[in-house]
Amino acid sequence: MPKNTFYITTPIYYPSDKLHIGHSYTTVAADTVARYKRLRGYDVMFLTGTDEHGQKIQRIAEAKGITPQQYVDNIVEGIQELWKLMKITNDRFIRTTDSQHVETVQKMFKKLYDQGDIYKSQYEGWYCTPCESFWTKTQLVDGKCPDCGREVELTKEESYFFRLSKYQDRLIKHIEDNPDFIQPASRQNEMLNNFLRPGLEDLCVSRTTFNWGIPVTFDEGHVVYVWVDALSNYISALGYMSSDDSAYRKYWPADVHLMAKEIVRFHSIIWPALLMALGEPLPKQIFGHGWLLLEGGKMSKSKGNVVDPAVLVRKYGLDAVRYFLMREVPFGSDGIFSNEAMINRINSDLANDLGNLVSRTVAMIEKYFNGSVPGKGEPGSFDNDLKSVVAATPAKVEELLDRLQFSSALAEIWKTISRINKYIDETMPWVLAKEEENNRRLQAVMYNLAESIRIVSVLIQPFMPETPEKIWHQLGIEDLSLVSWDSAKNWGVYPIGLRVNRGEAIFPRIDLKKELEELSKLTGGMQPSANSSHVPETQAAEKQQEKPQGEEDLISIEDFAKVDLRVAKVLEAEKVEGADKLLKLKLEVGAEVRQVVSGIAKHYAPQDLIGKHVILVANLKPVKLKGIESQGMILAASADRDLALATIDKNMDSGSKIR
Ligand code: MSP
Repeated sequence: MPKNTFYITTPIYYPSDKLHIGHSYTTVAADTVARYKRLRGYDVMFLTGTDEHGQKIQRIAEAKGITPQQYVDNIVEGIQELWKLMKITNDRFIRTTDSQHVETVQKMFKKLYDQGDIYKSQYEGWYCTPCESFWTKTQLVDGKCPDCGREVELTKEESYFFRLSKYQDRLIKHIEDNPDFIQPASRQNEMLNNFLRPGLEDLCVSRTTFNWGIPVTFDEGHVVYVWVDALSNYISALGYMSSDDSAYRKYWPADVHLMAKEIVRFHSIIWPALLMALGEPLPKQIFGHGWLLLEGGKMSKSKGNVVDPAVLVRKYGLDAVRYFLMREVPFGSDGIFSNEAMINRINSDLANDLGNLVSRTVAMIEKYFNGSVPGKGEPGSFDNDLKSVVAATPAKVEELLDRLQFSSALAEIWKTISRINKYIDETMPWVLAKEEENNRRLQAVMYNLAESIRIVSVLIQPFMPETPEKIWHQLGIEDLSLVSWDSAKNWGVYPIGLRVNRGEAIFPRIDLKKELEELSKLTGGMQPSANSSHVPETQAAEKQQEKPQGEEDLISIEDFAKVDLRVAKVLEAEKVEGADKLLKLKLEVGAEVRQVVSGIAKHYAPQDLIGKHVILVANLKPVKLKGIESQGMILAASADRDLALATIDKNMDSGSKIR
């Protein structure tokens, strides 16, 4: 009989050399589901990849003086390495620069044009480049992008439009008729009330002001809007509209598109409308989980915690990192990530609860029975309760994993682990071992422990790629049929007479204090600075002079290290209307572009600044100057009425740290 299929996707990520633990969150969650479904016998297709077109990428590449293709090739390799390191079992990795994807998008676009779902008109509106989103004037909040709060640009161009409005009623009906379509339910209400019911406008689906995109085949100069390009990856990866569309016919519609909440809008409105227009079935579910944040705010912005997944995996081991991601925050809600919380969880749940249970059990089997349990022994008190708790766990875990409730599923497994640990305290094997007449009872206790651990080791497989095998080795299990998923539903599978192998602790304890000190060295001694405030230079200088410069006014090296100084390259500079001292600058800081307003207009002409490498205080709280957001401050020397920008002595990559 052919297996049931299961198709799961992550968003395709923008190429960035700074993928942080937040990005890994979705990928680890999707991998957990993929592993779980495979264990349950499904034929799984798990897709991830990269979203490589768009104005944002073109600008970054231009600023670096390389082609967009060179830029993305370089970065995508690093992303693929990261997924290998994290043992992500994606079946396909799609790049939107793949020729098959490009051809599919071109064919889709042409089909929609030929059937009248795409038409040509004039676009006039607002565009947020960082989000690659179009907005109408009324959607802007204080004139800024309603999603990210950054500047938008007025765009006027001849464009193609997709008749999104035509699909509004069908979309509303589909969402109302299929309560599982958008999950969690709160996001469904948000889509209906904030976007669909107020009314959809047709969507601008081509651009002419830049060329890093998929060319529209029938109109030179137009490239396909990056979100239409990106969303199509979910079917182009399966060969949709290609000469071999067997994978498409096998796996589509997707069982679940997984992502964080900020892009649910694109997936639950634009994507289904495109599919309706193409006459294709809709995905079964769009699941928008919450954000992983740092204490001080967004992960990409904050300092003071190590958020590089590769560093964390190398330090603490893959399974510890993956466990923490899936355990700490209920899937769907926002949560705070911190190194301290992670180390605490590793110590309590992994080293203490699970790790100790395995080591103690194996050590006792060695000590009392020379390394193998000789029989199932004599039943006694506590056995039935232990067995009923352990036996009830697989069904609970399945029910929770089917609903993507990773944290609750792990909580169930760990409740069972606590029950098993309690069984040791209740039965007191060390007391039983004193009397020869208790030997058969001691056998039963050891058997029940080994069997309970075997069942736990099966259930943690979707979450942990490495630990189950380590446990099997310690329990002496080589025959993998003893640890198939369904074997967890049967009590008594652990064979009599297997020789256990005492090994190293599967999760060594971490010294929290020492480790936090080490991590702090890695982040340059930074702590998240929630209260940093932006004081204009002159005021700051005045404040300084208010106090005599006594010993108490000296700062320590740690104080200095709180200031995040970075090399920044000036990309654009312009005068600020109505403020003769201010210039608005666009700065390249590594892969990021920052906007800074600086009081240097009397000393520098905008065109003279382009290309200069300046010094940016990168962790200042943003402020508004003349209504324009300034995301940091550049340094300058000033005396009397003169002012000189601080620059660096030779060319260094923007984003380099200054200490
Ligand atoms: N390229 C688009 C997606 C196109 S899908 C057709 C995009 N890319 S992205 O690189 O910005 O990645 C967005 C996704 O990364 C989020 O939806 C989420 O899945 C994941 N996350 C990035 N930062 C995250 C957190 N801090 N917390 C949780 N998820 C995070 O948008």
